[in-house]
Amino acid sequence: MSTTNNWTPGSWQQKVVLQQPNYLDGDQLQNALQRLAKLPPLVTSWEIESLKNQIGDAAEGKAFLLQAGDCSESLDDCDNDSIVRNLKVLMQMSFVLIYGGMKKVVRVGRVAGQYAKPRSNDTETRDGVTLEVYRGDLVNRSAFTESDRKPDPELLLRGYERAALTLNFIRALCAGGFADLHHPENWSLDFASDTVQADKYSRMVDSITDALKFMEVVRGAEFRASGSVDVFTSHEGLHLNYEQAQTRRVPRREGWYNMSTHFPWIGYRTRDVNGAHVEYFRGISNPIGIKVGPKFEPDELVNLIQSLNPDDERGRITLIHRYGVDEVANRLPVILKAVTDAGLRVLHTCDPMHGNTFSTNSGIKTRSFDKIAEEVQQQFRIHREHGTILGGVHLEMTGDNVTECIGGQSQIGEPDLVKAYKSAVDPRLNYDQAMELAFLIADQLKAGHNG
Ligand code: PEP
Ligand code: CO
Repeated sequence: MSTTNNWTPGSWQQKVVLQQPNYLDGDQLQNALQRLAKLPPLVTSWEIESLKNQIGDAAEGKAFLLQAGDCSESLDDCDNDSIVRNLKVLMQMSFVLIYGGMKKVVRVGRVAGQYAKPRSNDTETRDGVTLEVYRGDLVNRSAFTESDRKPDPELLLRGYERAALTLNFIRALCAGGFADLHHPENWSLDFASDTVQADKYSRMVDSITDALKFMEVVRGAEFRASGSVDVFTSHEGLHLNYEQAQTRRVPRREGWYNMSTHFPWIGYRTRDVNGAHVEYFRGISNPIGIKVGPKFEPDELVNLIQSLNPDDERGRITLIHRYGVDEVANRLPVILKAVTDAGLRVLHTCDPMHGNTFSTNSGIKTRSFDKIAEEVQQQFRIHREHGTILGGVHLEMTGDNVTECIGGQSQIGEPDLVKAYKSAVDPRLNYDQAMELAFLIADQLKAGHNG
């Protein structure tokens, strides 16, 4: 990047910084950060550049970005089964999308570092007791006790280590043929075997394996390339001390890289062009996501994109549109017009989750599958009308059979939410709901609705 005037990995500290924890012991924090900065990187600059290039492809309609995973990863869920289940649903969704769209799918997990959460309030009160709000496992713990809620700098190291363990296992699974098309038994649906999408899915698997066999007979050799697939990592770049500690130069390349993830994004609450988060992001060379919601004014967004990507670098900026079904038809068209008129090169993706959250009468935070599906469909339609390309989706989901969002073919109702509600922050699509949504998106891609 050429324009990083007066920028250093720590120059954000001169700006107004939102959403940071209040650590009581500054020396303890500095000590943890020094240890964090010494640890080896999680990703490499060539992987980051490869993803940027693939995001450039998606922006041009040559690929589709599937970015999905937990709202907030938990340190306790860093275990064999959770990682396998989450990877499996990401893979399965990606196959459905490839099959539907007949184009490359770029897989990005909200994974291996999605541990810090922005919150609307700094404190939480229950039964007259007020404590610090839970800010994600990188900062404090979700249990409602004074000691759990105290920000603990050691968690920065625990989070980084868990991210490394998670990524290590994902890399091993991907390299070791977890997604090998010759072993469709690896892809079978664990539950949901009686649902419509399971049926559609197994027909799709049969058809892919038949096509593969046919091609191998014609070629006289096995396809080996399918033995290894790429999965990239992403998280919200929220906790700036954590991000700074792993921001480095690399040999033989210009610029600075955030080596804790391939693809950090700027959250909706920390998008101020004069604020600390944008200052930090403007100096790193990674591809960057920007969450765009109903209160984002078109001028503000254009200005933000220009300051983050002054050279209009290909693949640098992904807009993650999250308006909600009630706002999307008002907001997305004006944003698309402003970005197009300014001649800015961006990838447009749809986050149908964050504008569609509500609380039930009994106070449980949830989302309705129907509204999520409707926002996806509306975004495809609006792009079609504007001649722009919807080149990806951004979802909160899990491979677990949780009951956090209502609706879908498995018909989760409000009374079911208490049965298996595990998220400490936002409600995720479960396995069935995620697969159902994948088929719906695949239908849009099949109809040629994204360029
Ligand atoms: C999130 O992605 O979990 C999130 C908090 O999103 P947003 O910044 O769009 O509200
Ligand atoms: Co969320």
